[in-house]
Amino acid sequence: MIEFQNVSIAFNNNHVVLNDVSFKVHFYEKLAILGASGGGKTTLLRLILGLVRPDSGKIFIDGQDITELSESELRTSRMKFSIVFQEGALFDSLNVRENVVSCFREYSNYSEEEIEKKARELLNKLGIEEAIDLMPEELSGGMQRRVAIGRALAGCKPKMVLYDEATSGLDPLTADNICGLIRDLAEGEPPERTGFIIVTHKVTDAVKVAERFIYLRNGQIVFDGDIDELRNTADAELRVFTGELHIAENIFDRRGR
Ligand SMILES: Nc1ncnc2c1ncn2[C@@H]1O[C@H](COP(=O)(O)OP(=O)(O)OP(=O)(O)O)[C@@H](O)[C@H]1O
Ligand SMILES: [Mg+2]
Repeated sequence: MIEFQNVSIAFNNNHVVLNDVSFKVHFYEKLAILGASGGGKTTLLRLILGLVRPDSGKIFIDGQDITELSESELRTSRMKFSIVFQEGALFDSLNVRENVVSCFREYSNYSEEEIEKKARELLNKLGIEEAIDLMPEELSGGMQRRVAIGRALAGCKPKMVLYDEATSGLDPLTADNICGLIRDLAEGEPPERTGFIIVTHKVTDAVKVAERFIYLRNGQIVFDGDIDELRNTADAELRVFTGELHIAENIFDRRGR
């Protein structure tokens, strides 16, 4: 379980990014964190990983307050998560195989032979085995995103996967494909399954994968609920976010008639 207790963080010139944020999430949950650009979504993931420390408040991972930990202790806590970063998570000078294999080498004790086998299995699961010898620049955006997910998963068994804008910048079909992949990777029943947190401003993608939704505004959680509560929210600004959803549904309703 991840627990934020009254977490606040500000950057330069006292620019408050998160202000007294409290929430709990189980590792098996499927949570989407929504919010405008610059709203603190990536910062929230970085706090979970202990890559930044809060100015005040506590963050518990598995009951351990990580705000008190040393760098080396933080590394152990970080191993509980896999993260798919928002920006270019691939080594441009390495082909797909090496991008994935290098993670296995770093995070596991497998022999080279086993690593090759595991890497192929993983790429196969991600539907990109045929791209194994290609360089990142030769891949489409969607394929790059798949390799990035492969890198995040290589060699570790995370308790939870953190996706930072996993579908942004992709065409709707490819984004839908990545959503399917995210769902597949979180299959199974709680509490055994590996859950995820996806941070995104694309509500239409969030609803395809998540069961719980948190909306951040001005550094605070102003909404925390399920899909029905999200659909029916009275919050004017959040309704702008969910507007896309209603429009899509209206179109399909009308077409269905
Ligand atoms: N290390 C840092 N130093 C200074 N300011 C930072 C740092 N990290 C984040 N910020 C600032 O904090 C705010 C929130 O940034 P963050 O990246 O968390 O937003 P976001 O919700 O992920 O946005 P986006 O949707 O554009 O990815 C921004 O104003 C950003 O400039
Ligand atoms: Mg971000």
